[in-house]
Amino acid sequence: MISKATIDTVFETARVEEVIGDFVQLKRAGSNWKGLSPFSEERSPSFMVSPAKGIWKDFSSGKGGNSVAFLMEHSHFTYPEAIRYLAKKYNIEIEETEQTDQEKAITDVRESMYLVSEFAKSYFHNTLLNSEEGKAIGYSYFKERGFTNETIKKFSLGYSPEAWDAFTKEALGKGYKLEFLESTGLTIPRDDRPFDRFKGRVMFPIESMSGRVLGFGGRILTNDKKAAKYLNSPESEIYHKSKVLYGIFQAKQSIAKLNNCYLVEGYTDVIQFSQSGIENVVSSSGTALTPDQIRLVNRLTKNITVLFDGDAAGLRASIRGIDLILEEGMNVKVCTFPDGEDPDSFAKKTSHDDLVSYLEDNAKDFIQFKASLLMNEAKNDPIKKADLIRDMVVSISKIPDRIQREIYIQECSRIMDISEQVLQSTLAQLVQKDVSEVGKKQKQEQQAFEVVKNENPLDAQKVDVLYRLERKIIEILLLYGNKEEEFEDTFLRTNEEGEIETVTEKKEYKVFQRIYLSLQEDEVELANPLFRDIFNDLIDYFHHNENFSLEQYLMHLQVDFAQEVTDILMEDERVVLHDWVGQNIFPKSKNDTIVQEVSETILTLRWYLVGRIIEELKSSLSSEPNSDNTEPLSLVMDYNILIHSFSKKLGRVMSRYY
Ligand code: CTP
Ligand code: MN
Repeated sequence: MISKATIDTVFETARVEEVIGDFVQLKRAGSNWKGLSPFSEERSPSFMVSPAKGIWKDFSSGKGGNSVAFLMEHSHFTYPEAIRYLAKKYNIEIEETEQTDQEKAITDVRESMYLVSEFAKSYFHNTLLNSEEGKAIGYSYFKERGFTNETIKKFSLGYSPEAWDAFTKEALGKGYKLEFLESTGLTIPRDDRPFDRFKGRVMFPIESMSGRVLGFGGRILTNDKKAAKYLNSPESEIYHKSKVLYGIFQAKQSIAKLNNCYLVEGYTDVIQFSQSGIENVVSSSGTALTPDQIRLVNRLTKNITVLFDGDAAGLRASIRGIDLILEEGMNVKVCTFPDGEDPDSFAKKTSHDDLVSYLEDNAKDFIQFKASLLMNEAKNDPIKKADLIRDMVVSISKIPDRIQREIYIQECSRIMDISEQVLQSTLAQLVQKDVSEVGKKQKQEQQAFEVVKNENPLDAQKVDVLYRLERKIIEILLLYGNKEEEFEDTFLRTNEEGEIETVTEKKEYKVFQRIYLSLQEDEVELANPLFRDIFNDLIDYFHHNENFSLEQYLMHLQVDFAQEVTDILMEDERVVLHDWVGQNIFPKSKNDTIVQEVSETILTLRWYLVGRIIEELKSSLSSEPNSDNTEPLSLVMDYNILIHSFSKKLGRVMSRYY
């Protein structure tokens, strides 16, 4: 584990504009920097970096955060990977904290396996480029397939010599332990003489999302029908076939940026596409896609386009697996290639532009594609048709989004020439029978849908007011939470004559204490769950950090909060970006004092919440002829007095939220 001290140093050293400047071209805009969003294709800049606050905000996607959040979003690093990257950039030595012996043993094993695999990758790569055998056999094979030197380097392609133990001997000589050579599967154990798994094969290293070598695929070069064309590393502590996608490391940025991922079957399909300039491509290495692999893509985009080889035979079987992708809520398109072609062979003989337009013209929405395909098969066979309808509806039932399901039912009804009612009732039957997660999801959605339906427009407006009030409270905490100010306290006291009177006293509070205490007094929690979490986190931070600084807080900002917090803090920058002030669309008036802003916001929130209680009481009044409403009525009257006093104090401010 990286020590806390190292993490702090990294955060203190890293300049957000420098970190981002390595990936995005930034131009000065007043005290900030702006540039084109790296998360979408755009022509006018909506990406802002604030060196003063140490944060960035992408107004086109809503994303935002500190330097680490940028690296996690943009380069898809994990948190420790981002810290390590920054440490390297700024030459900061990483201090590791002690692990327990057991933890150490586990990480040691995995680390050693990674190291062995990394060594193997460079050994195979060097052998391909520099040894006589490698050049004559491996390198010339890749050249024949049309791979450039650049491509060979990009995918670290290699060659393993045709010998008993060339690699194993080399590795042992370099001090790598036999134990790890065997556990990675690179070496096959044999008492007298362990030997290489991959012999006389060209090598494809399989890498994780962050570029660590997990395993290998090796392709035989002869046409020997008995030997397997591809040999792959066995499952190991670091290589879980069902959890990796070949090419994901090279593809991830392009996938996120273009917001689409092409899925192909083989290693060479990925490489050929990438060389043709279509870099957002990965392969499941010849097997059906697993949920883990889909989730890997889902982190980067919601859109996937599955590319099928030209042989129609496998198609029926393959499209069955696609239901899994639908289940993850992703949008699926499919594209087939002409007979006898796979993505590799097709890309090889097609120019970049033609390939792009081929994909654009031929990628079809999966549900429509499947419906047409099945219809063709069952044209004049009613029994078969009934089966197919069911099959179709099964696919549709996997889609978590209700509205989307609805649209597909309409589409299918058109394509298959079946009434919507029939499809609907088949769907209903399926959903009823389905006790799986999908079934539950649908039910929850339906409930949520009903709640929304019952709401009248007035309620929607109220939610909006509450939202804005709570957001304001977070804003005040972020900007002035630690400021000490003089607030007025009002309370009741019995005077010398024994009369009850109201007294007002001035007292110093920190802004966060004032807010915290006021909400406590009313026993109020913020209604919005995200605001509530941020609120609790902030209050906790204030309590533990006497000298709160916004920068410090932002350094350790939780990823879940980043979007909302940067939204609040960069609101001014957004105004600058679009020159709304200049156009008088969003005039600013920030002349209020902090005390005024805090008091008014709290008071408005209390006023709002009490108003809600009154309404609840009123609606609980019974209209039965002989019922006793005395108690709720007297409560309503009490609350009305309270709310009247709020209103008097608030006067003009209310218009701000209404
Ligand atoms: N595959 C495998 N083992 C095999 C055959 C195939 O692991 N014996 C995997 C490989 O990942 C391969 C993918 O399935 O890339 C697709 O197989 P195939 O279409 O037969 O191979 P291609 O990628 O077309 O390979 P090539 O063009 O080199 O023949
Ligand atoms: Mn092929």
